Order: sequence, then structure tokens, then C-alpha cells
Amino acid sequence: MNIILLGPPGAGKGTQAKILEEKHGLKQLSTGDMLRAAIAAGTDVGKKAKAIMDRGDLVSDDVIIGIVSERMDKPDITAGVTFDGFPRTPAQAEALDKMLAGRKQKLDAVIEMKVDDEALVERISGRYTCAKCGQGYHEKFAPAKTPGVCDVCGGTEFTRRPDDNEKTVRDRLQVYNKQTAPLVAYYAAKGNLHVIDGMADITRVTGAIGSVLEKVKG
Ligand code: AP5
Repeated sequence: MNIILLGPPGAGKGTQAKILEEKHGLKQLSTGDMLRAAIAAGTDVGKKAKAIMDRGDLVSDDVIIGIVSERMDKPDITAGVTFDGFPRTPAQAEALDKMLAGRKQKLDAVIEMKVDDEALVERISGRYTCAKCGQGYHEKFAPAKTPGVCDVCGGTEFTRRPDDNEKTVRDRLQVYNKQTAPLVAYYAAKGNLHVIDGMADITRVTGAIGSVLEKVKG
């Protein structure tokens, strides 16, 4: 099964994609995570992407389509994929259609996660990540059980993304509304768009996504 989580920065795509991987074995394919890994590794893709990401713009379609296509051919993808942060432009959506058709696969559902702008800013401003294992947290909505200690690995160092500041979040929202929001109409026209309330708490959002998956499984 292949699904897209579509939503603005901070909508909860990464949080839910990780849960879907644990519960259903759908591999999380996060273009943001892939780009951050490329930056950390100092690759050519990472060097091109760094400044663009820091200011909240989109990395070029060619680069993104290239890394996604490569990732789709890795043997660990068996049960399917949750696309997290991809596609983000009509060109990327069309490229995904071709990638799936070329691999004799289909897109089962596009789940749009709707969240108010002010809530997005609050979510992103409070987000932090374990530096050792990458577990994500939120100061208010999903804090570590013991303050300063990662629930998963016991690590005590945490990081924040350079693009997680209020100014860049507002710029990223504008980019989303201009370049990515048109995909809602694209997928609605294809008949596989499902809209859920992303303002609900994390468990309820997981439940809403689960209901969509049940429905499309038939
Ligand atoms: P990317 O990494 O994809 O960032 P994003 O889309 O801006 O999304 P985020 O990761 O910020 O948010 P999320 O929806 O995953 O929320 P999360 O679950 O973490 O992209 C970064 C940059 O890379 C882009 O700006 C661009 O430059 C580049 N890029 C990436 N893909 C690209 C592409 N395809 N094309 C071109 N450029 C691309 O949740 C946020 C916080 O809220 C967390 O702390 C979480 O604990 C909390 N939270 C989650 N759900 C809830 C809830 N229901 N209630 C309360 N709190 C919640």
C-alpha cells in the first residue's frame, strides 16, 4: 500500500509516518529527512540543499525526483511507502505517478492533514529531537517522560532544526500555500483524496488515518 501524507509544515506528517511504519510496515519516505542526511554527509545534494532549506524554499524538482526514485528501488520497501513531504509540486506529483506506474504499483490514498496556521507555528517552535537516535518530541504536546532524557535510547542531548524558527516557519507556510496546496485539487480530481482533522491529538489523528486505510483496503 502506498499513501501520501499531505499537509503544511508541522501538520504531523513525520509523527504519523513513523507510527504507520511501526504499525503497518509502510516505509516512511521523508524527503526532508533524506535531504538533512545528505547535508550531514556533505554530499553534492546536501551542499545544494542547505541554504535553500534554511530559508524555507523548495529544493529543485530534479534533485527531489532523483532521490525519491533511487529510494523506491531499495529492497527494504516491501509492504509499501508513506510519502512524507513528497510530492510538493505538480511536477513532483506527475513524476510520482510515473514512478509508481513504472513499478506496477499504485497510490492507494492521499491523506490531507488540516491544521490551523497558529497551531503549526506552536508545534514547530516546540519541536526537538534526540541527537543520538532521532526520536522526535514536543515541549508541550509530546515531551520526554523524564525531562532531558530520551525515552527511547536514554540520550541526553537534543537538537532543533535550523529551519524551525518562527520567521522561517511562516515563510514555509507561504511556500506550502503557493506551491503545494494545489495538489489537493490534483488528487481530489483523481478521486483518492481523504481529508482528516490534524488539529486533534496525536492518538486521534492516528485513528483517523487508520480508518482511511481500512476504507481503501476495502
Ligand atoms: P520537511 O522536513 O518535509 O518539513 P515540513 O514539510 O516543513 O514538515 P515538518 O517536518 O516541519 O512537519 P511534520 O508535518 O512532519 O510535523 P511533525 O510530525 O514533525 O522539509 C524541510 C525542507 O526540506 C523544506 O522546507 C524544503 O526546503 C525541503 N524539502 C523537503 N521535501 C521537499 C520536496 N519534496 N520538494 C522540495 N523541497 C523539499 O510534528 C511537528 C511537531 O508537532 C512535533 O514536535 C510533534 O511532536 C508535534 N505534533 C505532531 N502531531 C501533533 C498533534 N496531533 N497534536 C499536537 N502536536 C503534534
